[in-house]
Amino acid sequence: MNLSPRPGERPPDLIVYNTSLVLTCAGKGPRRGAEQEELHVVPDGAVAINGDRIEVVGPVAEIMQMGGAPTTLGDARGGIVMPGMVDPHTHPVYGGNRADEFLLRLGGASYEELHAKGGGIQATVDATRKMRVADLVESARGRLWSMFFAGVTTFEAKSGYGLSVASEMAQLQAIRELNAEGPWDLVPTFLGAHSLPREFADDREGYVDLVCEKMIPKVAALGLAEYCDVFCEEGAFSVEESRRVLEAGQVHGLEPKVHADELSPSGGTRLGVELGARSVDHLPYVSDEDIELLGKSKTAAVLLPATTFFLFGDRYAPGRRLVDAGAIVALASDHNPGSSHTLSMGRVIELGVMRCGLTVREALNAVTINAAYAVGREKELGSIEPGKQADLVILNVTSPEKLIYAWGVNHVVAVIKRGMLVDRRRQPDVTRPKKQRFSDLFS
Ligand code: NIG
Ligand code: FE
Repeated sequence: MNLSPRPGERPPDLIVYNTSLVLTCAGKGPRRGAEQEELHVVPDGAVAINGDRIEVVGPVAEIMQMGGAPTTLGDARGGIVMPGMVDPHTHPVYGGNRADEFLLRLGGASYEELHAKGGGIQATVDATRKMRVADLVESARGRLWSMFFAGVTTFEAKSGYGLSVASEMAQLQAIRELNAEGPWDLVPTFLGAHSLPREFADDREGYVDLVCEKMIPKVAALGLAEYCDVFCEEGAFSVEESRRVLEAGQVHGLEPKVHADELSPSGGTRLGVELGARSVDHLPYVSDEDIELLGKSKTAAVLLPATTFFLFGDRYAPGRRLVDAGAIVALASDHNPGSSHTLSMGRVIELGVMRCGLTVREALNAVTINAAYAVGREKELGSIEPGKQADLVILNVTSPEKLIYAWGVNHVVAVIKRGMLVDRRRQPDVTRPKKQRFSDLFS
């Protein structure tokens, strides 16, 4: 890396300076085992950006000498600069909300009970099917902005609330349009096998046929998704049904992901590893043997502790044991209207540390380089390294530990996406009266 002045060369467009430190998360990725603790910190560091790319990161004194004055200087005001976070598991596009069910759950009803009575995912499917693509885009937009200014610059986004050919396509089309309009990157996942829709209650096989024979080929032909996910759980899809769906996806070029071992030991982790899934997600009920399996596998373990929290569970995914076994551990919000209605990656990191047993540094790698790996973007995103996309977050703390010590606070003060500081005024004003009422960020 040549940091000396290079007369005649183009100066950087932007230098972010005046940091307490830059957490680069650079180096070998994804991180597993003891490496997951390694953040690669540059004290008093600076980042030089050209166009949408990171040009160089290093000590501020060296960066400031680079080939002439930059177009812009970005003052981090003594805070931390870290890679834009990646949220590798979200369900952001849906109709309605489930505040009523939340109240019932507060009164003692269980998530599984509500699902079995035709509420739960089916309630959101009913609301989603009524919406046109434009409505879906409109309702998801505010959620994405909110998560963006909490530090997430790339999201995985799932379908799964349509459960019919037309409505699944509408959700994926909305994700495509949101990807085109926003400052963020969205990675689309097809989740047709999220729940058995009401009209197929007596024909499980018929629905799995529909997913495999109609939906997957269509999704693939239209290039609407990169991943194929399935909810492998009692009350949703069995291991054998999940296998059929994921294998059909693979035939059509969609990489597998699995909702696994969330509410009971479902066998989903084992299936995911066997099929070479990109990730297996949730995992509170992962078995000892499957922890060992993940320790030796390339399949990422994506933990969703906000879901356990929001479902009032006491069994969190065993993050500590997964890291110690050598698994590639990532964290995600699982934002959805039923089981994880949060828009804050900050809260997810806190729970990853305070409930799943990750260290602060492990958790930060879990939302950057390992999360990028969990969506297949580790070569492009997830660390501050020359040549990577310039996605940065500026935090108003001076050490990684203070991020968690001062918990419950959004520490993000600025977000840079593809080399551009994103103006907060682009975020839709959620308090602006709309149709004579306050619009609602969440629904
Ligand atoms: O990841 N587990 C399955 N799917 C979602 C829940 C979706 C919902 O309740 O609407 C999840 O937790
Ligand atoms: Fe989920």
